[in-house]
Formats: sequence, structure tokens, C-alpha cells
Amino acid sequence: MAKKLIVGNWKLNPQTLDGALALAKGTEKIASRVRKTSLVICPPYPYISAVRKTLKKTALGSQNFSIEEKGSHTGEVALSMLISCGTTYSLIGHSERRTRGETDLNIKEKVALALRSGIIPIICIGETERNTNGTHLGVIEQQLTIALQGIGEADFKKVCIAYEPVWAIGGNSAMEPTDIHEMVMYIKKFLSTIYGKSAWETLVLYGGAVNRDNAEAIFKIGNVDGLLIGRQSLLPEDLSQIVDYAEKLK
Ligand code: PGA
Repeated sequence: MAKKLIVGNWKLNPQTLDGALALAKGTEKIASRVRKTSLVICPPYPYISAVRKTLKKTALGSQNFSIEEKGSHTGEVALSMLISCGTTYSLIGHSERRTRGETDLNIKEKVALALRSGIIPIICIGETERNTNGTHLGVIEQQLTIALQGIGEADFKKVCIAYEPVWAIGGNSAMEPTDIHEMVMYIKKFLSTIYGKSAWETLVLYGGAVNRDNAEAIFKIGNVDGLLIGRQSLLPEDLSQIVDYAEKLK
């Protein structure tokens, strides 16, 4: 079985560098004892360099990066800068970026830039609401189609997808594991219409209110290739329990 990928999205946490170092150490302790799981953390930009020094088995990702590569763009952070600080992954198109104005076209540019730069893009997709007409499926198809425009088969193999229903992010309840399973299959099937059979190998992660109580069922019933975890990635004990579920999967 392929390794499961567990990505911790720290968002705007913790509030100090000391806190970030402690958290990174806690995560690294988990990563150093596991065999069937790959761990990635996405800290806020200012912590990335310092945190890197505490990591051996945990990979580093960024939560975002600029479309601009250099020049007069005050306040932006270029992907090349992040790479030189040790990142190998990046989230792209997280819903909290989309609500700040990031469009599908911006996301498409970022996916292409990430792939050109050797960064593994974790493309975040997800509907804001569900209804019985199934319009959410159209939303997912549109997000995927635009994000992947112009990406050939060889590059596509490096892409990860994080399916995060926006209504579950930051809330108390995750999506039902059977519904997660259905969405993972739907996404892979849709991708296979563009990329053929190899799309079934794409890593599709689930994110949105994952915790130590629901993670086991999400792995077993949801049949996910990994998880994108917000709040619980800030709690090493909880994260450790979640990772253990992944390690025990047959
Ligand atoms: P949550 O966040 O686990 O705190 O719901 C997930 C995410 O936004 O990636």
C-alpha cells in the first residue's frame, strides 16, 4: 500500500517562534517513528527557516506563495525564496485564500509555477455548500479543470489534490466517511477522463474538521490517500493518534 500523506496546515498559528519550534519538534517525534505515513507541515512563512533545522523526517510546505517571481511586489513571498528555505510542497488555492480573492485562474498559474519549480502542489478544492441537485460536483469539476489546464501527464503525476468541503473546514463535524469515499472516487474518475488510468493513482486527501475521533473512519471508510489537518495539527498528541490510525491500516 502506498504511504499515506498527512499534511498539517498551521494557518496563522502558533503566535511565537518558540511555539513553532516546540510544535515542529513534537511533529518530528511522530514522523521519526512512523513507516507507512509521510508527514508534511505548512508553518507560517517567518518560521519556515528556523523550523527546518528541527526536521529530518518531516517535510516542509508553504501555505501559499506569490504568482510574482521577483521585483517590486511589496509584501509578497516568492516560491524560489521558500524553496531556498527548504520547502518541497505548497498548498495552492486553500479556501481561506479563495475567500481573500484568489481565483481559479490564479490557482492555475500557481500550479504551473510550482511544477516548473519542482514543488509538489497540493491543490485545494471544495464546494461551499451542498444541495440535492448535485451542483457541488460541477464546482469540483470546474476547480479541477482550470487548475490543471496545460498540465501534461508527466507533471500531473506529481500533483496532490486536497478535497476540503468548505462547510466542514473549521467546524465541529467532518463530512460523513461514506460521502468522503464517494467524493474521492468521483474526483479520481473525473481526473481519469483527462489523464487516463494513471489518475487513479493520484493522491486525494480529505480536509475539514479531521480529529482523533473521526480520523480512523475517514481512513477506513473514506478510503483517502491522506489528510489535510488544520487545528489538530497544532496538537501533537492528537496528531500522533491520527497518524497511528494511518499506520495500522492494512
Ligand atoms: P480544520 O482545517 O482541520 O481546522 O478544519 C482544515 C484546513 O482548513 O485545511
